[in-house]
Amino acid sequence: MFAKINSFKSKKNKSKIVCLTAYSKNIAQIIDKHTDLILIGDSLGSVLYNFKSTRSVTLDMMIEHSKSVRKGISNSLMIVDMPFNTYNNPAQALKNCKKVMRITKCDGVKLEGGLKIMKTVNLLVKNKIPVMGHLGIMPQLTKGKFKSKGKSAKEKKEIIRDSKLLENAGAFSIVLECVEKNLAKEITNLISIPTIGIGSSNNCDGQVLVTDDILGLTESKIKFVKKFTDIKKTIYFAAKKFKKEVKSKKYPTKKYSY
Ligand code: KIV
Repeated sequence: MFAKINSFKSKKNKSKIVCLTAYSKNIAQIIDKHTDLILIGDSLGSVLYNFKSTRSVTLDMMIEHSKSVRKGISNSLMIVDMPFNTYNNPAQALKNCKKVMRITKCDGVKLEGGLKIMKTVNLLVKNKIPVMGHLGIMPQLTKGKFKSKGKSAKEKKEIIRDSKLLENAGAFSIVLECVEKNLAKEITNLISIPTIGIGSSNNCDGQVLVTDDILGLTESKIKFVKKFTDIKKTIYFAAKKFKKEVKSKKYPTKKYSY
């Protein structure tokens, strides 16, 4: 039952782990051969719906996008972000996570938080729901402000404590967002489950980015975002060409007509 989760965990200290987000089947299908994990991130709130923060994302939105993504994945682990206010206490979290697992057929869920959600993580794991943690910047709590985490002694102590707590509660991996590079290294060496960095240096066991960002579909100015291509140009010129052929009646020819 947990073969895929165990295989993911076993990549620690062997090869860097590749994770990306997807919100639809078409994108999932294209990236699936290159990824170890595909995350249906609640970042879809800002990326697709222009929400100011991920707090406005609903469980229904996550479920609908995840159902689409499921149809495009045959290789990667599929993990669904639990949105804000859907895991406020262990009983509510269990009910909502069970619903997500059942309807979307995902392999697990991701929750933001450390000490505060420990009872919840324990309960989910006991109920055979694989949990990925998320520490450092937690967009549901920080309302989308990006700044390095773990520079002060207090923050550092808390992030280390929370990483150990998540591991002990049975989380299978932890996303470290904008965690200072030396702290990311310390945590990665300290815990036995993979750390997945986003803006947390290459000291982590793997990396995750938002696919729309790496494709150049967004205008993100966040420090860790690297555009790996500029798909906007391709789409722009395809639409321009289509327009030209429609206006000049070059399209559709007989070949494209019934
Ligand atoms: O919501 C999201 O897409 C995420 C990742 C970028 C880590 O949480």
